[in-house]
Amino acid sequence: MKYKLIMKRTTIANIWDPKLINTQVSVKGWVRTRRGNKHVQFVALNDGSTIKNIQIVFDMEKFSDEDLKGITTGASLHVIGQLVESQGKGQTEEIQAEKLEIYGTANPEEYPLQKKGHTLEFLREKAHLRPRTNTFGAVLRIRHTLAFAIHKFFNERGFFYLNTPLITSSDCEGAGAMFQVTTLDLNNLPKTEDNKVNYAEDFFGKPASLTVSGQLEGELGATALGAIYTFGPTFRAENSNTPRHLSEFWMVEPEVAFNDIKDNMDLAEEFIKYCINYALENAKDDIEFLASMYDKDLIERLKFVVENEFIRLPYTEGIKILEESGHKFDYPVYWGADLQSEHERFLVEEHFKKPVILTDYPKEIKAFYMKQNEDGKTVRAMDVLFPKIGEIIGGSEREESYEKLLARIEELGIPMKDMWWYLDTRKFGTVPHSGFGLGFERLVLFVTGMTNIRDVIPFPRTPNNCEF
Ligand code: 4AD
Ligand code: MG
Repeated sequence: MKYKLIMKRTTIANIWDPKLINTQVSVKGWVRTRRGNKHVQFVALNDGSTIKNIQIVFDMEKFSDEDLKGITTGASLHVIGQLVESQGKGQTEEIQAEKLEIYGTANPEEYPLQKKGHTLEFLREKAHLRPRTNTFGAVLRIRHTLAFAIHKFFNERGFFYLNTPLITSSDCEGAGAMFQVTTLDLNNLPKTEDNKVNYAEDFFGKPASLTVSGQLEGELGATALGAIYTFGPTFRAENSNTPRHLSEFWMVEPEVAFNDIKDNMDLAEEFIKYCINYALENAKDDIEFLASMYDKDLIERLKFVVENEFIRLPYTEGIKILEESGHKFDYPVYWGADLQSEHERFLVEEHFKKPVILTDYPKEIKAFYMKQNEDGKTVRAMDVLFPKIGEIIGGSEREESYEKLLARIEELGIPMKDMWWYLDTRKFGTVPHSGFGLGFERLVLFVTGMTNIRDVIPFPRTPNNCEF
């Protein structure tokens, strides 16, 4: 026992090191499988550091059946032994066990992941344990790699990471799909004289919600620090039960002073290519595993996006292409229509066969803050549309004119009491500026080749789903 304590643990990710061959190593992890006969037992051990398992070989002359009784799928072990080149097929190295400690057993009658090959739907019901499967281990490591790439990209380019509030009293996107935050007793609401809820008695003294976007505060940062990005959770109470919508998702929002819409498109394209390429280089084993299991074309698709220029096209021309395509869509296509995923994917997958940046949308279907074009009808918006995903990024150049922005806010009936601080950016030293929001889970979806957004976030929040 004393010996075990002084032996340093090697993670399985670090075990594939020629220098360790024929030395004694200590590994700890969870049992994936056990097989063998009365002479020898083989255990595949995984510790989450890599998709690869290390094979542990138990010589049954040194261990008894009783010693190994607790080794079933899901049990947690500490093994000390000699790392040797493997005799068997399928793995390069294995550990010949000398000492064994079982931390915790996992009753095979009860452990939900006892068998292999569960469906993704089944695993969603077991979200507390699914990170222990190969698929979710791979997805979560890729998710981490992409998050790291995002910080690295912006840090290398002089952007500052700005933390914007999660609790807010303004509705950035004006879509009204916000979760309310309150400490009022819902069974005994304080009322005003005209029988409305008296928010003066609520925690913040006024109505508050979870943010749908950090952009408005991001603009305050950009018009002081020059270039910022946010990376945090955002919340949308829209009842969209689709494979691409979550009620709680993570968004990355760069905002840059002095950038126009063209600079904004260049930044978005460079950024997304950088992240995908970083994952290809740094999460290779996991991407290869997912490609082999779910999506044979995955790696080719990722490389294609990195290597090709995105198409840049005004909305009006996009509508023309859709109208003239002769393709039957579920939702009608006409100038002024908000594009559905089927339209976006037609442009990307059928027509151009490349990612598309669609610009200059009708102002009616876009948010109040976007810069108005001279035509009086469109705004300087840009959506980046991706194969399999549809919209992955939404952004724009911002309206920097105080008068025009105020007029639009009034036209839309947005309450000024929520917006005075935002308008101050246009009143004091206003500058042209632009930014965008990347839906982080949509990027993870694209890079992992998974098809349901619930499978790329550890604990998905969707309508009627808040279990774990
Ligand atoms: O297009 P959206 O609504 O844009 C904004 O919120 C802007 N304030 C961003 C900005 O300019 N700073 O959202 C941005 C992206 C979408 O393109 C999409 O990828 C993702 O966020 N997104 C969602 N992802 C998952 N679930 C949802 N319900 C999402 N809604 C938007
Ligand atoms: Mg959008």
